[in-house]
Parts: sequence; structure tokens; C-alpha cells
Amino acid sequence: MRKPLVAGNWKMNLDRRAGVELAGAVRSHLDGLQGVDSVIYPPFVYIEEVARACAGTALVVGGQNICDQEVGAFTGEVSGAMLRDVGATVVLVGHSERRHVYGETDELCALKVRRGLASGLDVCLCIGETLEQREAGQTEQVCSTQLHGSLNGLSTEDMAKVTIAYEPVWAIGTGETASPEQAGAAHAYVRGVLSGIFNQAVADATRILYGGSVKPSNAADLLSVPDIDGALVGGAALTAENFLPILDAAAEVCVR
Ligand code: 13P
Repeated sequence: MRKPLVAGNWKMNLDRRAGVELAGAVRSHLDGLQGVDSVIYPPFVYIEEVARACAGTALVVGGQNICDQEVGAFTGEVSGAMLRDVGATVVLVGHSERRHVYGETDELCALKVRRGLASGLDVCLCIGETLEQREAGQTEQVCSTQLHGSLNGLSTEDMAKVTIAYEPVWAIGTGETASPEQAGAAHAYVRGVLSGIFNQAVADATRILYGGSVKPSNAADLLSVPDIDGALVGGAALTAENFLPILDAAAEVCVR
């Protein structure tokens, strides 16, 4: 039984006031919903205030990135312990913008996954192919390499704290969404890879989110695909007007 999860990745958007206000709206809305989990990922500097605004509620707050190292001379980096200290309980690893804008490799993602878990954080590992890779027929190979590269060696207990987000790079921030068929095929494949790395029970229990131009108008169609267990939302997570209907769609269609 996988409970649907709708996550909002704010990326480098909003300011302190807008962030706290949006978190308040999501928190109140979530209070009235059954059967859906939600996480918001504010920029580092707003995590503490947003987490305070969400304390004692079901709304979870996470970090968008984590340093692979524990502590020390790593200018500009933020550690897992620091994320915990300000109220984050989950962290994104390997987001496409980290991989493609900042050159993060699977090796670095693997270290970050381990550092997140060692810090007591849950981890949402993002994977996905570029347009070039999709057109070359490499979608499955890319997803498999990213999953193996970042998850090999984890225990089944570790995997209880890991969520996967399949985010095709060509669908991120482009307005172009993978069709439910395309996303469903990729998710089924990802679940198969998880079964191969771990076992069928881990594959069945792991939530796999879809990300890439999810919005109120396409959320229900995507979320009703059996292997799609939720959404990782970017642009549409920046206003209550867009994000709350996606939560509603998950609560309605993801009952399984
Ligand atoms: P968009 O929803 O803006 O396409 O962003 C998706 C994303 O990258 C979420 O992490």
C-alpha cells in the first residue's frame, strides 16, 4: 500500500513572506485531506521559518540539496545535521538541475544519499533522461544507471526512507509533460530495477513520484496511472491556487 505523496520543490523562488504564507495555505488544506502526504522544499534560508509554521502538522519540510561531507571546510555547503537542526526531515538528491547545471554525478549522488540517511533524513532521489537520451532510445538505460549508481549497497531498511522521483529532463519547466503512458512505462521500469537491486517487497513499497510540468489540468490523468505514486511539482508548487488542486487530485485518484 503506497500512500500518495505530492511534493513542492520551490527551487530558488519566493521570499520569506510568500514562503511562509504558502506553507500556511498548504498546511491548512492538508489538514482537511485524507490519504495524501505532502512535502515542501523551500530554499535553505527559509527552511527554519517554514518548518516552524508547519510544526505539529502533517506537512513535511525538506531541503533541496545536501553536502556529501559531514562537517568542515566546505564553503557554501549545508550539512545533513544542519538541515535536521532547522527542521527539515527529508532531502532531495540528484535533482536534474543539480546534475545538469552543477555537474553532479551518480557517484556524488550516492554519497549524498548515504549522507542524508546517516543524518537521519529521508531521501528523495531524482532521476530522469534528457531529450537527447530519450530520442536515442536510452531512457531505460539512463534510469537504470542512475538508480544503480546511487542506491547500490543500501539496505532494505534504508530503502524504507527513500522515495524516487522520475523527472524526465525534457519535461521540467518546459510546459511539456510526459504522457500518462510514457510516465507509466518509465515508472514500471523503475520499479522493476528496484526489484532487481533489492527485492519485490522493496519495489512494491517504494513510492515513485512523477515530476515535469505537473499542473492542475494534468495531475489527475498522471496520478491515476498505477505505478505513479505522486508528483514532484516545480512551477505549479509556487502558488496555493495551483498546488492545492494537485493535492486534491492525489487524494481522489491515488487510492490504492
Ligand atoms: P516543473 O513542475 O516546473 O516542470 O518542475 C519540475 C521539477 O523539477 C520539480 O522538481
